[in-house]
Amino acid sequence: MRLLVTGGAGFIGSNFVHQTVRERPDVRVTVLDALTYAGDRTSLAPVADAITLVEGSITDAPLVDRLVGESDLVVHFAAESHNDNSLNDPSPFVQTNVVGTFTLLEAVRKHGTRFHHISTDEVYGDLELDDPAKFTASTPYNPSSPYSSTKAGSDLLVRAWARSFGVQATISNCSNNYGPYQHIEKFIPRQITNLIDGVRPKLYGAGLNVRDWIHVEDHNAAVWSIIDKGRPGETYLIGADGEKNNLEVVRTLLEIFGRDAADFDHVTDRPGHDLRYAIDASTLRDELGWTPRYTDFRDGLEATVAWYRENEAWWRPAKAATEAKYAAVGQ
Ligand code: NAD
Ligand code: TYD
Repeated sequence: MRLLVTGGAGFIGSNFVHQTVRERPDVRVTVLDALTYAGDRTSLAPVADAITLVEGSITDAPLVDRLVGESDLVVHFAAESHNDNSLNDPSPFVQTNVVGTFTLLEAVRKHGTRFHHISTDEVYGDLELDDPAKFTASTPYNPSSPYSSTKAGSDLLVRAWARSFGVQATISNCSNNYGPYQHIEKFIPRQITNLIDGVRPKLYGAGLNVRDWIHVEDHNAAVWSIIDKGRPGETYLIGADGEKNNLEVVRTLLEIFGRDAADFDHVTDRPGHDLRYAIDASTLRDELGWTPRYTDFRDGLEATVAWYRENEAWWRPAKAATEAKYAAVGQ
């Protein structure tokens, strides 16, 4: 099988490529990645000899057409992915998430290529903290930020191309991922690398916002179950019942680092900050037989802390600039 992975030099995409090379020797992997600030060639270094990396944008129609024409399956991770950045400059979010997905859809339509679209639970907006409900595939779309609205737009394009043009597409909407190779602008690796540097973790607002954490390996295993067994045209929600508020996550990290439970700072809250995300993944579990392997959040977090300790050369070059960007907006 010839597989094209977009965004394969980013966090989830690079872990997906590692997992695929490790577990599926019959799959020939090509990565298309623009190597933006969030993409890193070295995230693919351990599998460099087993794959082909093409540096280019998913908005480049001739390049996309050629690469899709040479593939049996496209798994589409490439995106601008950080909410805070989308509040400062939404433009690349519209270009990559909407126009880039459109460009890929036109190519898979032309070549009749199977397509899997990676998306987020943030397209559904947020839930109240005391609401027992979780997101399901029939929850109405209600995105809050430029990031989540452009992801919602991309999902709707995929649904339309599947229905109107018969494109063989599936969509997955996953909750917040953690694990190795995540950019240090994101919540968990930002606090881990702060703690390694002896800096106090930074909590937006009161820290009561809830995210439904899943280990990146479990997300990617679910993606492979959908590719293997999913029904074209369907949307699958991926989550591992990992709801935690941000304060609990910071307290667990402080414990792992042997620091006092009160050793953190509250900083300026994010405008429009979604309160709570929670996924009902029963379709994925019941129909496709997927189950998560990382069921103990603290264990997964400890392994992630160990990875960042052992791979300082990977994240250190981005640390000062990332923190300067946050400092400029009081975060
Ligand atoms: P990331 O920011 O770490 O990686 C994105 C990758 O896409 C980078 O390698 C970047 O260089 C590449 N890219 C950006 N613009 C591009 C373009 N125009 N052309 C080609 N490549 C481009 O993101 P991530 O956290 O790995 O997220 C991957 C996907 O998963 C995204 O679609 C995101 O919406 C989705 N998702 C993420 C999470 C999460 O918790 N991180 C949760 C659910 C869904
Ligand atoms: P983030 O990793 O940006 O993911 P998302 O916005 O997609 O959920 O943030 C996760 C949560 O952590 C979110 O509620 C915002 C919060 N947060 C902090 O409290 N401090 C930080 O330094 C960052 C980056 C995020």
